[in-house]
Amino acid sequence: MSATHEKKRVFIKTYGCQMNVYDSDRMTDALAPHGYEPTTEIESADLVLLNTCHIREKAAEKVYSELGRLRDMRAEMGRDRSDMLIGVAGCVAQAEGEEIMARAPAVDLVFGPQSYHRLPELVSRARTARVIDTEFPEEDKFAHLPAARREVTIGRGLTAFLTVQEGCDKFCSFCVVPYTRGTEVSRPVDQVLAEATRLAEAGVREVTLLGQNVNAYHGLDATGRSTSLGQLCHRLAEIPGIERLRYTTSHPLDMDDDLISAHRDLDALMPYLHLPVQSGSDTILKAMNRKHTAAQYLEIIGRIRAARPDMALSGDFIVGFPGETDADFEATLEMVRQVRYASAFSFKYSIRPGTPGALMDGQVPEAVKAERLAALQTLIASQQASFNAGCVGLTLPVLLEKPGRNPGQIAGRSPYLQPVHIDAPADLIGQILPVEITGQAKNSLSGAIVTGKAQAV
Ligand code: SAH
Ligand code: SF4
Ligand code: F3S
Repeated sequence: MSATHEKKRVFIKTYGCQMNVYDSDRMTDALAPHGYEPTTEIESADLVLLNTCHIREKAAEKVYSELGRLRDMRAEMGRDRSDMLIGVAGCVAQAEGEEIMARAPAVDLVFGPQSYHRLPELVSRARTARVIDTEFPEEDKFAHLPAARREVTIGRGLTAFLTVQEGCDKFCSFCVVPYTRGTEVSRPVDQVLAEATRLAEAGVREVTLLGQNVNAYHGLDATGRSTSLGQLCHRLAEIPGIERLRYTTSHPLDMDDDLISAHRDLDALMPYLHLPVQSGSDTILKAMNRKHTAAQYLEIIGRIRAARPDMALSGDFIVGFPGETDADFEATLEMVRQVRYASAFSFKYSIRPGTPGALMDGQVPEAVKAERLAALQTLIASQQASFNAGCVGLTLPVLLEKPGRNPGQIAGRSPYLQPVHIDAPADLIGQILPVEITGQAKNSLSGAIVTGKAQAV
């Protein structure tokens, strides 16, 4: 497809993790030089893309029901592929591309996460015949993906995602990601720095580095030396305008000394860490192929807290993994009690075909999973409430991000990733200012900007 000035519209619906959010923007950017503008009105779209997630059965099944709706909508509008293409991207496309083609004849185009730089060409081919592209190509996708214009970048907000690492070699026995995202690949340091510089020049103040195992990052620098995530953070923090850095998602075994000391030494590196453990039982951790024990996880947490005492911790948990007994589950609750999380995500184990967990004995009944999930979520919610309550009375540096829900209000982010609601004029947006926290709700804080006295933040 050649660059053209004919205006077309693309509607992208994003499911799943932050990497899919990042990828959806990359797809938008890849299509922009070919005349496609993003739209939020699906009826007006010439191209509808679902950027899908395969992590749990529900996520994957949602795609087929959405595709049914899209097929009906297109038919009711009297349109077809010549003026409204339907495409499926992301991890479901990668994992079950052929099945999508067979189950959903209205789909014109299926392509996996490693093909996004080829999207314009794929779209053009799909106008005449159905296309499927789920190869893992040799070329560097990132080197071929165009950058957004400056106004587009800042229009997306003061905070941005930046993928530095993709794929996973860990093969936890419950997880599809090594199959959908492929083997671990780190982007070269200079490529990451260039993208971060471009973001900063557009006005972005906070960058979240993304990877399925982001702390396994080992990109090469200009001299060909392998660079750790901690070292990369040091380089990124030197870029003028980059005030805050975060990263997600980490694996406990890749929390190396470089990264832990970066949390001690680098002001820009925010004191919030999402470090999934999945279970507190050694038997289950072993069956999950997590390659560490509960005690090792707690030891790593201890080292992190020694380097950065106010670190807010987050995690992921799976309940009802095959073979999980009441005692195993109790060990998970005990782990949560010991760590004291600022927030955490928890899920019922979902059987994923093709993963070792799917074939294991001792699958746990749904009702037991539901009961355990409720108990775990109650505990996590109470920890989150205590963490938020502990922030009341503190003065925190808050990135003033965007207008709030009510007039005269701004929404910001604390260092601990909590949304903060502040009564203040919109012209302060973009600054990081000291805010005295005066109140807390379930998922957010409220406060007032500290004025009149010098505040070191
Ligand atoms: N790379 C990250 C996790 C990616 S998936 C890591 O290593 O931690 C995000 C979360 O989804 C996982 O941490 C896990 O808690 C959950 N998850 C993954 N597979 C799952 C499954 N089959 N059933 C239920 N939850 C699952
Ligand atoms: Fe999945 Fe485990 Fe890899 Fe995380 S580390 S993406 S949970 S296989
Ligand atoms: Fe889902 Fe793929 Fe992300 S399976 S969680 S969209 S890496």
